[in-house]
Amino acid sequence: MGKGKVDALLGIVFGDEGKGKVVDVFTPRYDVVARFAGGPNAGHTIIFDGKKFVLRSIPSGIFDEGKLNIIGNGCVIAPDLFMQEAKELEEAGYDLKSRLHISKRAHLILPTHRVLDRAYEAAKGKNKVGTTGKGIGPTYSEKASRTGLRVGDILENFQEKYDTLKARHEQTLRDLDYTDYDITEEEKLWMQGIDYMRQFPLTDTEIELGKAIAEGKKVLAEGAQGTMLDIDHGTYPFVSSSNTVCGGVCTGLGVAPNAIGEVFGIFKAYSTRVGSGPFPVELFDETGDKIREIGHEYGAVTGRNRRCGWLDLVALRYAIMINGVTQLIMMKSDVLDTFAEIKVCTAYTKNGVTTDQMPFDTEGWQAVYETLPGWQTDLTGMTSESQFPKQLRDYIAYIEKATGTPITIVSVGPDRAQTITRQPGN
Ligand code: GDP
Ligand code: IMO
Ligand code: MG
Repeated sequence: MGKGKVDALLGIVFGDEGKGKVVDVFTPRYDVVARFAGGPNAGHTIIFDGKKFVLRSIPSGIFDEGKLNIIGNGCVIAPDLFMQEAKELEEAGYDLKSRLHISKRAHLILPTHRVLDRAYEAAKGKNKVGTTGKGIGPTYSEKASRTGLRVGDILENFQEKYDTLKARHEQTLRDLDYTDYDITEEEKLWMQGIDYMRQFPLTDTEIELGKAIAEGKKVLAEGAQGTMLDIDHGTYPFVSSSNTVCGGVCTGLGVAPNAIGEVFGIFKAYSTRVGSGPFPVELFDETGDKIREIGHEYGAVTGRNRRCGWLDLVALRYAIMINGVTQLIMMKSDVLDTFAEIKVCTAYTKNGVTTDQMPFDTEGWQAVYETLPGWQTDLTGMTSESQFPKQLRDYIAYIEKATGTPITIVSVGPDRAQTITRQPGN
């Protein structure tokens, strides 16, 4: 029996690169789709047949009937939000309970974790991370402190475990002098979410995955967030709280490093960031506004404006190295259709020092740009690489050369159908 492989599809910048869309497009090639990190801070948009879904905790392989979807041990899950998300899909006619397994080792986000998220942000004043407010940081901190509750805990004496942890959170909130909150309604819904979750297979997903791999099945690991939001390799402290990089696939699913096959690194033809933190390519002028307007760059989870700028090759090269990216996927190319010139950041500069390597402290650096001609052509109706204008081919070739990595897919619109596979080197 051939040994199966786990391919990883990872956001390699600041998230929202279009992971949901591509995972959905790729799912027919795989047997299993698994999320390995993050939770409802993610918002993965999938559009097909005139329908739009935004998934937060549920893997984007869920629309393909025959496929197993897994929420892995590296994820954190909010039962109330999970219930809401799952019911929406059930109402749209997708039978989840037969094809969505949840790891018993994934950690639970309590309502009080969300209050703690707000309290810690409030305490940070102007150094706020700008979190999604979903309790991500406090839940992962609790996991590392070895005091958290896991999905498997709901199977036995759960109320007692919940009450103990909640009481501890309430004490912390009193210590922080953050007492103006009321979770009564939220908690009711959350407990309904716990009962709802019990209807799903709560399993040892690492063992299931191990068996699937041994049987030669193909697994796609769906990333959340992006490399620059990784707790170790991102722009710390303005990051999320999990390992969003390729190494997170191993720890967050319990698969061995030698099971990893292709690593797809997904990025936009330009850059965006939501929340606070350094962003050397940020545009504060009408060009930034134009990218935001055309790209609909407003957060799928929080509705916040996404900060916009040109493509950052310093970040891209760093992410390719950290993740071992084997293929690049360029998204939202159509958003640049009307620009006469397109800039690309090739290095950062600060106080007379210029570097093309990701610095330890990304604060205060300015982007150094090269300018390339825009294609000024509507890409959205294109179906094959042969239709690409010369300037787009040149842009692709420029990025491939600068990163030493092939771009194998170019996305020209949000719909499943607007996805063009290409032959690198063309
Ligand atoms: P994810 O978090 O990486 O899954 O990405 P999001 O769903 O948060 O954000 C990507 C947004 O871009 C969504 O609104 C998608 O519908 C949209 N999108 C994806 N690919 C394309 C594309 O090629 N062109 C355009 N115009 N929009 C796209
Ligand atoms: P997807 O999977 C973009 C950002 C938040 C904030 C920081 C920490 O859709 O690409 P958190 O709530 O995780 O503690 O917030 O990380 N962030 C994201 N930005 N896309 C995401 O997910 C994100 N998940 C978290 O805006 O700056
Ligand atoms: Mg998103």
